[in-house]
Amino acid sequence: MLCSKYISFSFLLLTLFLHAVNCADPLFHFCFSQENYTANSPYGTNLNGLLKILSTKVPSKGFGLSSTGQGQAQANGLALCRGDVSKTNCKTCVIDAGKALGDRCPYKKGAIIWYDNCLLKYSNIHFFGEIDNENKFYLWNGQHVDNSTSFNPKVNDLLSSLSNKAYANPKFYATGDLKLDSSSKLYGLAQCTGDLSGLDCKKCLETAISELPNCCDGQRGGRVVGGSCNIRYELYPFVDV
Ligand SMILES: *[C@@H]1O[C@H](CO)[C@@H](O)[C@H](O)[C@H]1NC(C)=O
Ligand SMILES: *[C@@H]1O[C@H](CO)[C@@H](O)[C@H](O)[C@H]1NC(C)=O
Repeated sequence: MLCSKYISFSFLLLTLFLHAVNCADPLFHFCFSQENYTANSPYGTNLNGLLKILSTKVPSKGFGLSSTGQGQAQANGLALCRGDVSKTNCKTCVIDAGKALGDRCPYKKGAIIWYDNCLLKYSNIHFFGEIDNENKFYLWNGQHVDNSTSFNPKVNDLLSSLSNKAYANPKFYATGDLKLDSSSKLYGLAQCTGDLSGLDCKKCLETAISELPNCCDGQRGGRVVGGSCNIRYELYPFVDV
């Protein structure tokens, strides 16, 4: 009896532990480059250097970019942490992201990965300052609201107003909520990577909002997540204030 109690207790701990680990699992990734590098090649060395620089540089502002090396062997990368994420958690996320891409996209010159807390992207191609229209995914809740005819426009209103705030904010980040009725609220987020111009941030977010019908019509929560910007809404608060 004692033994079985012990086992179920450790099972509980294990379940809690697994849950904690799952929270830090990546949302999605793409190994978008067709080009490969080899171990100990100049690109590999530059990429390792780049990942170190980003994990040092990004946490203080929540965004950073860098290039290492020259010419064909140049590695370019950026990382963005969600606007409410602490410096410590931002650093952890960027470090984990670099390792995870090494596992998931071994020897690919270009790759991108997203977590709840951050995104990391690198490439041999210099991509800074351009809206990434290639790397994008959607997430949705799977449960429907009762009346999407009245709900969808509210989602659009909230995210449009947050987009207008985000591109005008030096952090390219905005969160907010909208009262739906006496007992429910809609919560939203909009954020861009710091290499974009203000106008491109706005454009990126507007495009993301226009794609909501592709994934999220009448959904209780949804996200359009790209390499340059992302939007999210939920019926519960999901950022630290
Ligand atoms: C890169 O490697 C993959 C698989 O390892 C291979 O299919 C592909 O042809 C390689 N690409 C180039 C440009 O050599
Ligand atoms: C859904 O909302 C729309 C707009 O507010 C309203 O006209 C319609 O009657 C509602 N439908 C139901 C089934 O409640």
